Amino acid sequence: MEDASFPQGGQLGGVGPAGPTRLLVVEHPDVLVVAAPGETQDAVLAAAAAQELTARTVGSVGELTEHWREAGAVFIADEFAAEVAGRALPRRDGVYLAGSDEALLAAWSAPLGARVIGLPAGRAWLGVVLGGGGPGAVRTPVIAVIGGSGGAGASTLATTLACLSARRDRAAALVDVDPIGGGIDLLLGAEQAEGWRWPRLSGADGYVGDLRAYLPVVDGVSLVSMSRGPAIDLARDPLAAILGSLRRAHRLVVLDVGRTFAAAAGEALRLATRVLVVARGSVRSVAATRELIRARQLDTAEVVLRSGAVGAAEVADALESPVVAELPQDRRLAVAAERGLSPLRAGRRYRAACSRLLAHLEEAGDG
Ligand SMILES: Nc1ncnc2c1ncn2[C@@H]1O[C@H](COP(=O)(O)OP(=O)(O)OP(=O)(O)O)[C@@H](O)[C@H]1O
Ligand SMILES: [Mg+2]
Repeated sequence: MEDASFPQGGQLGGVGPAGPTRLLVVEHPDVLVVAAPGETQDAVLAAAAAQELTARTVGSVGELTEHWREAGAVFIADEFAAEVAGRALPRRDGVYLAGSDEALLAAWSAPLGARVIGLPAGRAWLGVVLGGGGPGAVRTPVIAVIGGSGGAGASTLATTLACLSARRDRAAALVDVDPIGGGIDLLLGAEQAEGWRWPRLSGADGYVGDLRAYLPVVDGVSLVSMSRGPAIDLARDPLAAILGSLRRAHRLVVLDVGRTFAAAAGEALRLATRVLVVARGSVRSVAATRELIRARQLDTAEVVLRSGAVGAAEVADALESPVVAELPQDRRLAVAAERGLSPLRAGRRYRAACSRLLAHLEEAGDG
């Protein structure tokens, strides 16, 4: 990244915060890398160090074979791909083929059963794939909230979940991924709050350090919001990089995805550990939600129903997805939103329903 003031902590292509030397002799590493000294090795080690994962580099395929089973994830530099494939090692999960030679990456991905990370463009993905990599890995849940139909209450729910979590001293971040959604700043009355917003963050790449000191904080929630003015074209890599940083510093990250088909929205849904689709209990909203689930391929999404004429059982049936919460209608929400006040000002029933949902997400989550 060009801006030296950006909190990077560890630069990819250099070394991570802990430096690579302490990572070389680990017996059962989270990350095993077969690579010659150089960019690929540096990038993987820096990403591992950034996540406080242990890593071990080996310089030969013989050594790789010895440690093949015991590592949490294995990275094979493209120059070693043919030789590793030649050993016909037992299949295992968590194998990645990384490097800059596109022809090698394409040729050896399938024989190795490996996912491909092209460098340097895919640097942010190193952090992403290591997100669930080992005992020290970051397990903060990332909950994407998307409206099944316009105005269903997705932004309100996303904000409420983040505020409830923060109120319980479980640090939360709320990320606006909807360039045309009106902005979570307005919803939370944060327009005047000092701090960086997407236009300032959209150059993020690779490993990003702790952002908390730089972001606006409202009701204890760190906000990554759009700014007023022309909608920005949020790209995928900055989103992955910012999410990586937020996950390390918070106990919950909530994404207000919005209903656009922008690349970042698709990416947000992909990077989330859970997806909640908010549907209203009306025939038209359920029909729209069904289309959204199909178009977005949200087969594993969970449905949150905003109460209406159509009941939870019918909605679950129509959407072929579980209804994990039913939120009552609450007029105070619209009033609070208009005034930029916290949605926790809603009535007890709405708050209680959201609290139960949050407990469900924490308990059943992979976080
Ligand atoms: N449970 C509820 N009861 C009553 N009003 C609600 C409820 N949830 C949200 N609202 C109100 O409905 C309106 C739309 O809510 P919100 O902006 O959260 O929806 P959205 O799904 O994010 O919409 P968009 O499609 O514009 O992104 C707001 O005025 C909000 O205060
Ligand atoms: Mg919205």
